Amino acid sequence: MRLDYLTIFPDYLAPLGLSLPGRAAAKGLVELHVHDLRGWTHDRHRTVDDTPYGGGAGMVMRPEPWGEALDELLGGPGSPATVVVPSPAGRPLTQAMARELATRPRLLFGCGRYEGIDQRVLDHARGRDDVEEVVEVSLGDYVLNGGEVAALAVTEAVVRLLPGFMGNAASLEEESHEQGLLEYPVYTKPASWRDHEVPPVLLSGNHAAIAAWRHAQSLERTAERRPDLLHASHVAGEWEVVPAA
Ligand code: ADE
Repeated sequence: MRLDYLTIFPDYLAPLGLSLPGRAAAKGLVELHVHDLRGWTHDRHRTVDDTPYGGGAGMVMRPEPWGEALDELLGGPGSPATVVVPSPAGRPLTQAMARELATRPRLLFGCGRYEGIDQRVLDHARGRDDVEEVVEVSLGDYVLNGGEVAALAVTEAVVRLLPGFMGNAASLEEESHEQGLLEYPVYTKPASWRDHEVPPVLLSGNHAAIAAWRHAQSLERTAERRPDLLHASHVAGEWEVVPAA
């Protein structure tokens, strides 16, 4: 998978070279390219923003540098790209979206700043032959100063799903959101620590009882913290797997 990032703060994306995406790059699973949007400006001040038509607070990112950057980065041979634009006005990032993005051969992140990017950049990108899709993605219902942190978050959610990245595929399947539920609590040694005990069922060696306990814990957590995630099939599942006490 090829990942491109367009930003006016390339240093903000330095963590891509570390940790998870860095490991994926080292394994040859991803190719990462960070680009300074100001490289596609032509004035002395390398201006990327201007005042909004119609008035109002803040500045809007001008379309021209974006257009030229897309021409240079996407033009030519290669798979069409999925353009990912982080925005508080986007679709909420979910595990399902991360799974879908992990199937795409090429992602280009357009990191906006200020009040956002001129809408015509997105409209134009949607009409390009070298663009598969333009997805506006939100990390959640709060406002960040720009798209860089969101681009890092989307990258991490996607890259860890690439085939060959995680050593243990089972650990992927069991974690929060993969089953539509929050993950159960986890414990390691020692069995007793500062008067807190590991739940005895986990020491029992009874795999069916452990699975049932974990599923019940997932349901309980989800009901308490994220009732919006629960639906009838989860509750039906509970009746199937929890053995009589
Ligand atoms: N840019 C600013 N706020 C954002 C958010 N909540 N999600 C994604 N990108 C953003």
